[in-house]
Amino acid sequence: MGRSVYVTRDLPEPALPLLRAECETVDVNPHDRALTRDELLAAVPGRDGILCTGMDPMDAEVLDAAGQSLRAIAVCAVGYDNVSVPELTRRRIGASNTPDVLTETTADLAWALMMAAARRVAEGDRFVRAGCWKGWGPRQMLGFDLYGKTLGVVGAGRIGCAVARRARGFDMRVIYHNRSARKELERDIGAVHVSLGELLRRSDFVSINLPLTAETVHIIGARELALMKPTAVLVNTGRGPLVDEEALVDALRAGRIAAAGLDVFEGEPNVRPELLGLENVVLTPHVGSGTLQTRSKMAGMAARCLLSMLRGEAPAQCLNPEVFDKSVPAP
Ligand code: DGY
Repeated sequence: MGRSVYVTRDLPEPALPLLRAECETVDVNPHDRALTRDELLAAVPGRDGILCTGMDPMDAEVLDAAGQSLRAIAVCAVGYDNVSVPELTRRRIGASNTPDVLTETTADLAWALMMAAARRVAEGDRFVRAGCWKGWGPRQMLGFDLYGKTLGVVGAGRIGCAVARRARGFDMRVIYHNRSARKELERDIGAVHVSLGELLRRSDFVSINLPLTAETVHIIGARELALMKPTAVLVNTGRGPLVDEEALVDALRAGRIAAAGLDVFEGEPNVRPELLGLENVVLTPHVGSGTLQTRSKMAGMAARCLLSMLRGEAPAQCLNPEVFDKSVPAP
């Protein structure tokens, strides 16, 4: 008891009851939106722990505002590009994320976007609702088959592998690009490890499943899009800045690729107006992990991680366990 934590968004059960059982003060962002910068800076002073989303910037100014009391930050997301783990380690602040629990749900959304983009589902929905449909037509709104095609997975981590495994149901060939080979994926589904260039040249569907780091920003830009087939579909469920959106808009407009499905955006929550005007792109509001079951698991995991770290223990999902290692001297 005696601990004070701040939760940057109202989370599904069981996060708040778990925190309230062990902490004296649990304050939660009262708004159904992200905090403004000023609100965040005003909310964190004197806290022992912060439970944030992957969208809240936990930068040096926020850490300074929180002050010396801050011992732990639990990110309720698998992607943690909003925190600098080396900086937190330097300050002896523990950090955690929520891997595993959202893998299958996010892979499902990547497939939903692939199918929606290939079969023009969102466009068809708009067409019918607008009263434009005058009856069946042999050339009407023709899309692309998925069955028997080639899926290219960029980033074969947990989510990339889950996206790849689903391709078996569509009898697709799977090629993947990853720093290291994934022998189990090769053995189980016959996936083939290739360079990024080869993947882009050969794939009918490209799914981006990378974390955002300094090395992966704009990993898909004009040069990479130019390698893709004019019939190819690109899907991004990772982070917006993995794809150069300006180059993507140009490629979609010029028909250099056929379609795209985007769950994440460079300037989130702002969406580039040119994307809004394109029929051949399906847009969803960063809901890769967006099912009640999965968000509850993420929230519970993040809360348990925060409590462990506040007790001085490194949870399995800790990103810097050395902070809790008593044998490592403080810098
Ligand atoms: C994640 O878990 O990284 C999702 O994108 C939510 O931020």
